[in-house]
Amino acid sequence: MNLKNKHIILGITGSIAAYKAAYLTRLFIKEGAEVKIIVTPFAKEFITPVTLATLSKNTVLCDFFYHDDGAWNSHIELGIWADLMLIAPATANTIAKMAHGIADNLLLTTYLSVRCPVMVAPAMDTDMYMHVATQQNIQTLSQRGVMFIEPPTGELASGLTGKGRMEEPENILQHVINFFQKSQDFSGKKVLITAGPTCEYLDPVRFISNSSSGKMGTAIAQEMARRGADVIFVCGPIANYPTHPNITIEKIISADEMLESCKTHIDDADIAIFSAAVADYKPKDKTSHKIKKQQQSIILELEPTPDIAETLGKYKKNNQLFIGFALETENEENSAKEKLHRKNLDIILLNTITPQHNPIANTHNSFTVFDKHNNIHHLSFKSKEQLAIEIADVIKKYIS
Ligand code: C5P
Repeated sequence: MNLKNKHIILGITGSIAAYKAAYLTRLFIKEGAEVKIIVTPFAKEFITPVTLATLSKNTVLCDFFYHDDGAWNSHIELGIWADLMLIAPATANTIAKMAHGIADNLLLTTYLSVRCPVMVAPAMDTDMYMHVATQQNIQTLSQRGVMFIEPPTGELASGLTGKGRMEEPENILQHVINFFQKSQDFSGKKVLITAGPTCEYLDPVRFISNSSSGKMGTAIAQEMARRGADVIFVCGPIANYPTHPNITIEKIISADEMLESCKTHIDDADIAIFSAAVADYKPKDKTSHKIKKQQQSIILELEPTPDIAETLGKYKKNNQLFIGFALETENEENSAKEKLHRKNLDIILLNTITPQHNPIANTHNSFTVFDKHNNIHHLSFKSKEQLAIEIADVIKKYIS
């Protein structure tokens, strides 16, 4: 009984895959979970509440009010009761409404009020799934900590073949079991994460920087926090910061500020993850006025920024684990290993730029992982959120 006494809200939306939710409910009950089901009005066209109520042993909720006595279904109480809210199947429509805070049915109001983690198993036609609007909504929700169970590629109800069909109930069950088993992996651990770019100003309005989006660091912060870690997230300017009660965000601008912030936290950290794309150089002099445009060329003198990982690596304690990243275009493996040793890291994750793929500011990536004992393994190409799960699994192995 892997889910004994776990409280799961199962949200079902109007997809042909809704019939699979009945079997999923049975699997949850067999594993010892308590399941309360909320359906959208449209979901009732695909599966009857009677079936779901019988399998879940609970009344199926759909409306805001009980029509007979005027009482209402408290989504707030449901939100407090639940250990996990799973929406399976989730249509493009429900995912879009979740991303935009629309609350026009009981499932959506409950989603907005739950305090527990939320997992979503999308189900839709492949073109709808791949549509930029859907992908952006998934990205937005992922950055807010919603976990997505990526649909596998296969035959769709439309007769087309592609990505979009809901993951099979047995696999969804496994995701849920894994989630509960891993949820305390890092409890009591303090994790320092650097992320995003740094900006090195040459005058009040201009700076040297790079196109790092901070997505990888954000996804790792979210995953570590979800598994119980206390995270200090020291980050340069990015569009979307992670949100989780276990994450404290320290916003910095320059490499010097990032180093100062890290110095105040490193002593308490059990794990440090250096995912920031720190600018390697800063202007030697910063002018207090805006540099005027001139006819002649100007020479900008640059000096190196501090290497944060290397500086802190010199004082690393035996019980601390340091993880760095490397982005190389030539002699990749040797350069990554050289950095691993020079910066006194335990693990380094190498990503490679190819003409087909630039991992910077991208949603997907792959890594080769090297550790200081010369072990090597690969994390295959996937979304940065999925990679964050695998990176946390790797880190877990090193701290156990
Ligand atoms: O030297 P390079 O920039 O390739 O090193 C990459 C690793 O070192 C990353 O983990 C990065 O976050 C970290 N780094 C740092 N401070 C710097 C430069 C890199 O912490 N100034």
